[in-house]
Amino acid sequence: MNLPGSPFLARDGDRLCLDGIDLATLGQRFGTPLYVYSQAAMLDALARYRHALAGRKHLICYAMKANSNLAVLQTFAAAGCGFDIVSGGELARVLAAGGRADRIVFSGVGKTAAEMEQALLAGVRCFNVESVSELRRLSGVAASIGRVAPVSLRVNPDVDAGTHPYISTGLRDNKFGIAHEQALDAYRLAASLPGLRVIGIDCHIGSQITQTAPYLDALDKLLDLVETIGRDGITIEHVDVGGGLGITYTDEQPPRAEALVAQLLARMDARGHGHRELLLEPGRSLVGNAGVLLTEVLYLKPGATKNFCIVDAAMNDLMRPALYDAWMAIEPVQSRELQALRWDVVGPVCESGDWLGRERELAIAEGDILAVLSAGAYGMAMASNYNSRPRAAEVMITSGEAVLVREREQVTQLCAGERLLPMESAPESGD
Ligand code: LLP
Repeated sequence: MNLPGSPFLARDGDRLCLDGIDLATLGQRFGTPLYVYSQAAMLDALARYRHALAGRKHLICYAMKANSNLAVLQTFAAAGCGFDIVSGGELARVLAAGGRADRIVFSGVGKTAAEMEQALLAGVRCFNVESVSELRRLSGVAASIGRVAPVSLRVNPDVDAGTHPYISTGLRDNKFGIAHEQALDAYRLAASLPGLRVIGIDCHIGSQITQTAPYLDALDKLLDLVETIGRDGITIEHVDVGGGLGITYTDEQPPRAEALVAQLLARMDARGHGHRELLLEPGRSLVGNAGVLLTEVLYLKPGATKNFCIVDAAMNDLMRPALYDAWMAIEPVQSRELQALRWDVVGPVCESGDWLGRERELAIAEGDILAVLSAGAYGMAMASNYNSRPRAAEVMITSGEAVLVREREQVTQLCAGERLLPMESAPESGD
């Protein structure tokens, strides 16, 4: 059988194993729903980028929105990575996991003044600024606390990354970045504001990108701008091409990270920009294929037109299928001598959109554990408590051991911050 994604995921006889560890055993030991990650798979994905960047000025800023578990951040911090963050909460997580502030780039269209101050005091490496108003606000905040904010402008290069509309970000109609034709004026303004120091240029064109051409087009547009603003006397030290490299969920064949990086560096060299530092913000491609979601089959409900396999994980645990119509492979962790039937794998949440996979050929019985593959990115990070469901536990496999890196949430934690109304404000009972 061909498993999409990670070489770390393999069948050992009738058992599905991640990094050599039997997933059925993990499901029984830690309960389900359960996210399981392989640290080795994450480091292997990082090494692919690193390999192609060897000997070049670069910084890999892991886009932690993909998976912000502290143990994941700790893994990348210890490997020397930087981080791409989009909120004060993400900043606090990086610091709690031992990440260095001077390797953080702060992206996002809606940074608040409080978040700017928090990041300035922490000493982040760069703010990726997305509008002229944000430039002014950042300069004001920095000046008010006697700091200078290092900035790069996120330019919207208006290239089509050829991906799902919800995760395409580099088109003119998207809310992200500063339009290419307005960038020169914005850079001039940035250079004139007292609280700012221009250091870079940035873009991010989308996610789950499976070709190199959109990256090269975007890079060309950034380099055109670097040259134009350079003639204005503004020097750009680093070029940040964002994240977005896709992974294999089913039969996609995205370029390998090495190939993408090699082409980017070659283009920079060819255009005389080889001396500038290259920044990358990969998220999914570092963690996506390093994780699975384990879920138990609660009930099998064969029907006249559809067979439903009701599992204990739901759209609140893994939102990608419901939100993007995303196809993610589903495999039993233990194969069985049963006749395979076609099942819709659905969760307990009260919505018809609550499904993890449709029309899947599976040989399964109630009580079996299934693994949703390629769930290491935008899985747990997007989980919610909808239907008052506590969030799943997370386990990391490291050096052959499975370590619990997030406890299963308890129902008491769900209402922890809530308050009943004082008795006098409560509506009269109708009795
Ligand atoms: N940099 C910026 C500024 C971003 O907005 C993103 C992702 C990344 C880097 C990392 O992109 P990646 O390498 O992971 O593709 N929830 C969606 C994906 C949303 C991506 C948002 N931005 C999904 O599950 O497909």
